[in-house]
Amino acid sequence: MIKLTDLTKNYGALTAVNSISLTVEPGEVFGFLGPNGAGKTTTIKMIAGLLQPTSGTIEIRGFNVQKDPLQAKRITGFIPDRPYLYDKLTATEFMSFTAALYDLGKPERRIAELLELFGLSDWADELVENYSHGMKQRLVMASSLLHEPKVLVVDEPMVGLDPRGARLVKDLFKDLASKGVTVFMSTHTLEIVEAMCTRVAIINKGEIIADGSVEELGKLARMENSHLEPIFLKLTGGDETV
Ligand SMILES: Nc1ncnc2c1ncn2[C@@H]1O[C@H](COP(=O)(O)OP(=O)(O)OP(=O)(O)O)[C@@H](O)[C@H]1O
Ligand SMILES: [Mg+2]
Repeated sequence: MIKLTDLTKNYGALTAVNSISLTVEPGEVFGFLGPNGAGKTTTIKMIAGLLQPTSGTIEIRGFNVQKDPLQAKRITGFIPDRPYLYDKLTATEFMSFTAALYDLGKPERRIAELLELFGLSDWADELVENYSHGMKQRLVMASSLLHEPKVLVVDEPMVGLDPRGARLVKDLFKDLASKGVTVFMSTHTLEIVEAMCTRVAIINKGEIIADGSVEELGKLARMENSHLEPIFLKLTGGDETV
């Protein structure tokens, strides 16, 4: 479970995230939507413990991210929007390094399984500097799952993935959720949200303006049975383009 309470982040005079409160349960694939600059990445980085909130609290399965950062991080997987990797390591080396950070004993088999799952087995001993963008993205995803996180926080997972990679990720997230993992995912790809999210929230200018199932958002926008795209555009103030 992820519980955000009155979470706020100011950058100087700018309030990027303005007192948001949300609870996401185990087994949910939660879609976090919003226009560019709305505050999604800022929120996700705070949940992952990479950015200190200005005020408010974040709990992950009861662990307060500010007060118990190690316990929280031990059960959290974070997939950033841009993969930062070490060019001079191979995939196997990077995975081993990550496994050591999490203190995982005998990770070899899990490393091989994850590289296989993400279609990187043939590249396992190749330097990361020779990888394409999508391959780097796959490696970051594989490494984020090494410690079998209970909560997965993902910033725009589908960017750069080919159709087969996107399909893999969709199936994987659904499978993890069915095993009780909480998946919190930002994305701009609304068809993916329709296909896989059990719940959606829209953040706009740092504030949550809608939270519920796609059907509930449709009711809120007075657009029942619509696709998410026109609902999103209406709720975020761009309905003149519909
Ligand atoms: N380190 C920073 N210093 C100052 N302002 C920042 C910083 N990071 C983000 N911001 C500002 O905070 C606001 C929210 O940014 P954020 O990256 O969270 O948006 P986002 O919803 O992830 O957008 P996108 O869809 O473009 O990824 C923006 O106005 C952005 O300019
Ligand atoms: Mg972002």
